[in-house]
Amino acid sequence: MLYYYGDIKKNRLAAATRAGNATGIIMRQVRTLGLLGTGVIGGGWAARALHFGIDVIAADAKPEMEEWLRGAVANAEGALARLTFAPLPPKGRLTFTSDLHAMAQQADFIQENVPEQLELKQRVLADVSRYAPADVVIASSTSGLMPSDLQREMSAPERLLVGHPFNPVYLLPLVELVGGRATSEAALQGAAGFYRYIGMHPLRVRREIPGHLTDRLQEALWREILHMVNDDVATTGELDESIVYGPGLRWAGMGTNLIYHLAGGEPGMRHMLRQFGPCLKWPWTKLEAPELTEGLIDKMVAGTQAQAAGRSIRELERLRDDYLVAIQQVLREYNIGAGATLRALEERLYEDAAASARPRIAVVSASAAAANGGKPLRLLETSVRPEWIDYNGHMSDSRYLQVFGDATDALFRYAGIDDAYRRSGRAMYTVETQVSHKAEARSQEHLYVLSRVLEVDDKRVRVQHALHRTRDDALVASAELLYLHVSTQEGRASPMDAQARARLAAVQAATR
Ligand SMILES: NC(=O)c1ccc[n+]([C@@H]2O[C@H](COP(=O)([O-])OP(=O)(O)OC[C@H]3O[C@@H](n4cnc5c(N)ncnc54)[C@H](O)[C@@H]3O)[C@@H](O)[C@H]2O)c1
Repeated sequence: MLYYYGDIKKNRLAAATRAGNATGIIMRQVRTLGLLGTGVIGGGWAARALHFGIDVIAADAKPEMEEWLRGAVANAEGALARLTFAPLPPKGRLTFTSDLHAMAQQADFIQENVPEQLELKQRVLADVSRYAPADVVIASSTSGLMPSDLQREMSAPERLLVGHPFNPVYLLPLVELVGGRATSEAALQGAAGFYRYIGMHPLRVRREIPGHLTDRLQEALWREILHMVNDDVATTGELDESIVYGPGLRWAGMGTNLIYHLAGGEPGMRHMLRQFGPCLKWPWTKLEAPELTEGLIDKMVAGTQAQAAGRSIRELERLRDDYLVAIQQVLREYNIGAGATLRALEERLYEDAAASARPRIAVVSASAAAANGGKPLRLLETSVRPEWIDYNGHMSDSRYLQVFGDATDALFRYAGIDDAYRRSGRAMYTVETQVSHKAEARSQEHLYVLSRVLEVDDKRVRVQHALHRTRDDALVASAELLYLHVSTQEGRASPMDAQARARLAAVQAATR
């Protein structure tokens, strides 16, 4: 399934309406993301888009950036592969060109990531806008320039907006969306939808200001750090400790404002402001940035080198990526911050996977069942996470239960027993599991599961899963599981929804 965003061209409205688009919103398919500039940020965009099934055509003035870009994408893969095990669409295809015009003619959405210089950005954006069709949204990754300045020389400037991401783009979901004076609402909404599709959290900035929201906040902190290092109050390492062991932990789930609301006790923010408000007038902070003297630069460099303690940038990046993945997975349990974004993304991925399989079941009838040839359904693809490995270097027992549980989840969603169904106070509870182990699965090994419904009645479903290795199709393990349909409010077995039962029966007929 591909993401569609609002088209800006008026004449497409009529066509879309003719095509029976219920909302009347004109749509353009984003199959291909065009990248303009493939450094640190362009590379991050490429890795994220490819992972979520979007083709990427990357353009950079320097042909030698191709090798760098492919390396950056490969480097991001390890962490991205562990971020979610929800079913993903096939990976996108990466092509590289040093011909910016060719990129502009082929892309459905363009993300600009050239160096942070106003004239350079204005020039390349104006140039590319003359080659990209007028309904292609163009977003700039600028850290602090204003969209009204960027769109000045462009053709169809209403499709230009700022889409400011954070490094590493492939793991951090935040993207700030800022419109300029000429930017259309359709472009902003379309971009927000596209970013959401590739697992991001678009934050609409109400008014353009230099530095948008996040960099303005980050710069305030950064300025204070420079002052304190300059005045020999603390080293860079001590200042990082002051965040990492305290506020940094809180910030992953709640921002400064909500955290201060809690700091005020029962009366909340009002009390907090009464108590600490006067300090704002002293003030504790210095506001103006210090002069960047050679001495200050040396202290900052020596401090961070001591913190790196001989570890290379690549090594530190891997460490950062690993904990960013782990933190998001923990936050997902609490449905908060970046974890809420991950959870919403996974919901959609499961839903997309079920929807693409559903037409097959919709036509399942006695004759279609025969046509299916009794083949089981392949609804789950996964791979063995490094942390699933036991002391023998193979996937440990408990993870088999997890994979078979995920396969059942995919099967139930396929039959319409999804989150909406669970929210209605009904669910399937596991009552019996039998697993047989046949072969081994190593770390990072790709696996798939074939599923069958063996039996279904009003309250019970018996399913069978077969777990296979993708590289040689060998059977790794098989399982039979019995599920009981339960009313979660009453806490006891109850008959399932007639439609869900009919779908499960259809699956049974088709996979017999
Ligand atoms: N690095 C970050 O943490 C970060 C975070 C968010 C946003 N940004 C923003 O993203 C943008 C890119 O930053 P970066 O860190 O990736 O820079 P970078 O220097 O790593 O990459 C810039 C790339 O643009 C290419 N380039 C230069 N001129 C070009 C031209 N005329 N046509 C095509 N390509 C050209 C360069 O060859 C280079 O590969 C900047 O606007 C920056 O403010 C950076």
